[in-house]
Amino acid sequence: MDIEKHFPCVDYMEAEAMRRIPEFMRDYLIYGIGQGIAVEKNRKDLNDVELMPRYLADAERPNISCKLMGYEYDAPFGVAPIGLSGLIWPKSESILAKSAKTHNIPYTLSTVATDSIENIGQIACDKAWFQLYTPQDPETRKDLLRRCEEAGYETIMVTVDVPRKIRRNHDIRNGISVPPKFFDIKTLWQMITHPHWSLGMLRTGVPQFVNILPYQQNDFSHIGVGMNITQSIKDSGKFIEERMGLHITPSVFEDIRAMWPGKLIVKGVLDPDEAMSYLDLGADALVISNHGGRQLDATPSAVSVLPRIRSAVGSEANLIADGGIRCGLDIARMLALGADFVLMGRPFLFAVGALDEQGGDHVMKILKEELLTTMGQLGCSTLKELPKSLFKNAEC
Ligand SMILES: Cc1cc2nc3c(=O)[nH]c(=O)nc-3n(C[C@H](O)[C@H](O)[C@H](O)COP(=O)(O)O)c2cc1C
Repeated sequence: MDIEKHFPCVDYMEAEAMRRIPEFMRDYLIYGIGQGIAVEKNRKDLNDVELMPRYLADAERPNISCKLMGYEYDAPFGVAPIGLSGLIWPKSESILAKSAKTHNIPYTLSTVATDSIENIGQIACDKAWFQLYTPQDPETRKDLLRRCEEAGYETIMVTVDVPRKIRRNHDIRNGISVPPKFFDIKTLWQMITHPHWSLGMLRTGVPQFVNILPYQQNDFSHIGVGMNITQSIKDSGKFIEERMGLHITPSVFEDIRAMWPGKLIVKGVLDPDEAMSYLDLGADALVISNHGGRQLDATPSAVSVLPRIRSAVGSEANLIADGGIRCGLDIARMLALGADFVLMGRPFLFAVGALDEQGGDHVMKILKEELLTTMGQLGCSTLKELPKSLFKNAEC
């Protein structure tokens, strides 16, 4: 199949992925919290950002490589952490980690991933970032960070916007709440009618929250072929709900900072004062994010707070932004507003959902090309020039 012809942008991959992923995981992937207002706002606010094209410029060969926290990347974007990725599409974590390494961009593994810290570390090497949902128990925290260090990770990302269990209506109705109920009649029917997904699952085995299994109290010796999957995911779900949600107070943050020798990113910042506080506490970078609209339906979008945060923290601070980015033009919009780098979540899962093993490479290639095309239109030869393209209509 000529994938360039069939899937020239993320939207086509999304449409195909929606066909191939069973409804209960599709809903988990695409919806946000509440009425979905924050999800919509992310897209709308990005669409409203206007950039001024300029042609009287030497932008024949724009350079989209960038430096972030001392690391060189081939493009200013990376893969955001997505919990339960391997259930959305089989093996998506290792597929995307491999593609990220090839394209020299970062891949972030979620704490609640279904592939291990050790395996992804081996695949993506120094391109692997680990996202931490902070365990309440300091010993568990310490051990997770020890494993990351031993597996070669140089960067962790502490997510601060999940202080307690979240209620997402679609997930509750589909049984993806904690504890999940995957094996009712409705779910089974969805699996039968989505054979690509189901065959993939048969090949890989139903994924587990592998990174937190060692910390659960129960005896997990039953895990393996023929295990009671429902029970084990249920146990992990309970563990996450009861033991991993907490407010990251300054003292918890200082504890993590002191334990982690590498780079530390804080994810889930929207308030300019909090942004300043995290930087004062030793964060190396911040992700300006409303978690893809999945935590609080009244949050502003990253787009709407980014300029304010940039002016509060100054030009030297490393700012990463996410939420609603679907193409190279959106990446340029975020950079024009003051981000140094962006993350995307759903687009990468759409890509593997549509194209399996080929998805990661294809979507990363397209995003790079779209960004290059946009820079050509804006007359920018480097990413640093993008803020000059921001069009602010003074008359409005
Ligand atoms: C299905 C799903 C699962 C997610 N899981 C996590 C997670 O485990 N940890 C985390 O910090 N953020 C998580 N996020 C948020 C993403 O990292 C990212 O902030 C968001 O997806 C960006 O919006 P976008 O999907 O529109 O690109 C998740 C998002 C989605 C859609």
